[in-house]
Amino acid sequence: TSKTFKLNTGDSIPAIGLGTWQSQPGEVGKAVESALRGGYRHIDTAFAYGNEKEVGEGIKASGVPREEIWLTTKLDNPWHKRVAEGIERSLENLGTEYVDLYLMHWPSSTDPDDLKKHYPDWDFVDTWREMQKLVGTGKVKNIGVSNFGIKNLERLLNDPSCKIVPAVNQIELHPGNPSPKLVAYCASKGIHCSGYSPLGSSNSPLYSNETLKSIAEAKGRSIAQVILLWGIKKGWSVLPKSVNPDRVKANFELDGWDLTDEEVAKIDGVKDRFKVCGDSWLPVKVFFGDDE
Ligand code: A2P
Repeated sequence: TSKTFKLNTGDSIPAIGLGTWQSQPGEVGKAVESALRGGYRHIDTAFAYGNEKEVGEGIKASGVPREEIWLTTKLDNPWHKRVAEGIERSLENLGTEYVDLYLMHWPSSTDPDDLKKHYPDWDFVDTWREMQKLVGTGKVKNIGVSNFGIKNLERLLNDPSCKIVPAVNQIELHPGNPSPKLVAYCASKGIHCSGYSPLGSSNSPLYSNETLKSIAEAKGRSIAQVILLWGIKKGWSVLPKSVNPDRVKANFELDGWDLTDEEVAKIDGVKDRFKVCGDSWLPVKVFFGDDE
């Protein structure tokens, strides 16, 4: 689908983007290229994925003009004290002059000399203050955050140094982790949500969910397509990852059919809760249950 969502900056973000977390080198460039050739206009990557260079090559190989593409990348945790350098590195990797969206990947600033250590004198509010300086440089069109729960968003928005409300909060969103409170909170602040791991990532239990199965059968669509359209109907953009050309293509086919309000409500009611990405690998806790 070429549907878009309007951000608080006035820019429009395509409702579906290709996710590239865990896409392997040697595969991700081709995936990006085939996605763009097949109609995608939104690619999501991050410095931490280690694939920005190949993503950039895929974009070039597609032949789609850069200005037609929404490109998102993210500031990695060990770069929080080096925001200006961080964006330069990403732009260089990607082989582009600008990104459409630059996200703070995690509300966790890590000492690059010791990844187990959180800087005592620097946190995400400081990082955001620096990120705000990028707006107007031509290097980033929009800035936002990722993996922020309500508690951290409140801290950020209430800080006097916060002059720009994040355009986007990119968070884990799928029927097993729908985070209604956080999504409603973001909406109330004018922050658009983008959903990562929208299909529940690899080995997802969602494909064997009976509710999803029966809706997919009734629609003559795949479970993945049903989940993605559900997310878009809930108001967030979806970032399905695939390196398989057939699945890349199928995930984009969300036009010409619809889910009823009743079907959306049924998916909302899926009981089994699970999360793909936790915070135990970080030096600070960032999830407090307010993301449920
Ligand atoms: P692959 O890259 O081989 O297609 P998520 O977007 O939630 O992170 O999920 C990504 C995982 O789901 C990957 O393992 C991906 O594998 C797989 N996947 C992506 N699209 C589909 C689909 N339409 N049907 C089944 N599995 C899919």
